[in-house]
Amino acid sequence: MAQHARAPERGARNVEQAARLSVAPMMDWTDRHCRYLHRQLSRRALLYTEMVTAPALVRGGAVHLLEFDVSEHPVALQLGGSDPVELAQAARLGAGAGYGEINLNVGCPSDRVQSGTFGAVLMKSPDLVAECCAAMIAAVDVPVTVKCRIGVDDQVPGDVLPDFITRVAAAGVDRFAIHARMAWLDGLSPKENRDVPPLDYPLVHRMKAEFPALHLSVNGGIGSLDQARAFLDAGLDGVMVGRAAYHQPADILCAADRLVFGAAQADSTAEGAVEAMLPYIEAHLAAGGRLNQITRHMLGLFAGRPGARAWRRTLSEGAHRAGAGPELIEAALAEVMAAGVPESVCGAVRNPL
Ligand SMILES: Cc1cc2nc3c(=O)[nH]c(=O)nc-3n(C[C@H](O)[C@H](O)[C@H](O)COP(=O)(O)O)c2cc1C
Repeated sequence: MAQHARAPERGARNVEQAARLSVAPMMDWTDRHCRYLHRQLSRRALLYTEMVTAPALVRGGAVHLLEFDVSEHPVALQLGGSDPVELAQAARLGAGAGYGEINLNVGCPSDRVQSGTFGAVLMKSPDLVAECCAAMIAAVDVPVTVKCRIGVDDQVPGDVLPDFITRVAAAGVDRFAIHARMAWLDGLSPKENRDVPPLDYPLVHRMKAEFPALHLSVNGGIGSLDQARAFLDAGLDGVMVGRAAYHQPADILCAADRLVFGAAQADSTAEGAVEAMLPYIEAHLAAGGRLNQITRHMLGLFAGRPGARAWRRTLSEGAHRAGAGPELIEAALAEVMAAGVPESVCGAVRNPL
């Protein structure tokens, strides 16, 4: 039997354990289809939504943005906003929709977000963040967490970050994901702000030493499961992986349940995930969806393996064509198989279709 799609961990009580390894919130990337794919690779890792702004939910009535498949659990909703009343309402909508955690974005540097006083610029207003979190905590039963930077603009991270954490923790937040670089809001694009300011992992370790009772995850620049495990071994509570999990999901997630969560089970495989996606894709197409809405998240599944390029090309050239369906995926997979498969994939026995 293929090693995939085991029953997911359900419910809020699992989110903190799951936060040992999480896939970061990424706009336009970690939509529900992407999360469904990631869930086929790891049953236990915590998955985050894209950021959803509180105004969109509360004033815009965009509650369709909250839709997800129950098999995505454990799954956290990330909110953007800076109005405590509106964030509390949005958190209530999220918890009501079934999310196991509500996370506040204090890290996103995009212009659009800055103009609404959301995201990283809130590093300058820790008391407002604390007020927002207190309002959300009062509104919902699920954990409220914060994803932040180490500072913005001319702030001194070593001074600002402990003060930020102290104030926000006093409002009741006990779990933080720290993107270990500053955001330079003047002059750098959002993309540059994910690469240019240098990473400061030692500061995150220092925060763990200063706040041993808090659950702290490190984020930023983590490119392999081994690297993630090294942070855990060094005493951090969690690791959040963004781009690497999106571009090489099998590398990050296939062995995660065993190596990060200690599960006694065979690792998942990219092939198994493809197989598990087929019924999901059929249901999506039957409901009027398009194939490439899902396959665009699958392009990196075989990254680094023979046939990866053919897989990517077949899907990207064919998936947007009218009438494209699961047979395109089967054809792409056949190309991967024809290219030859390593004896061991993600440390597991391979399960071809
Ligand atoms: C395409 C893209 C979209 C992102 N959108 C969000 C977002 O909605 N909310 C957020 O907190 N961070 C967002 N981020 C930042 C990531 O969550 C993460 O902090 C960053 O990419 C650093 O981690 P990495 O080096 O593992 O990718 C985004 C990153 C990317 C690449």
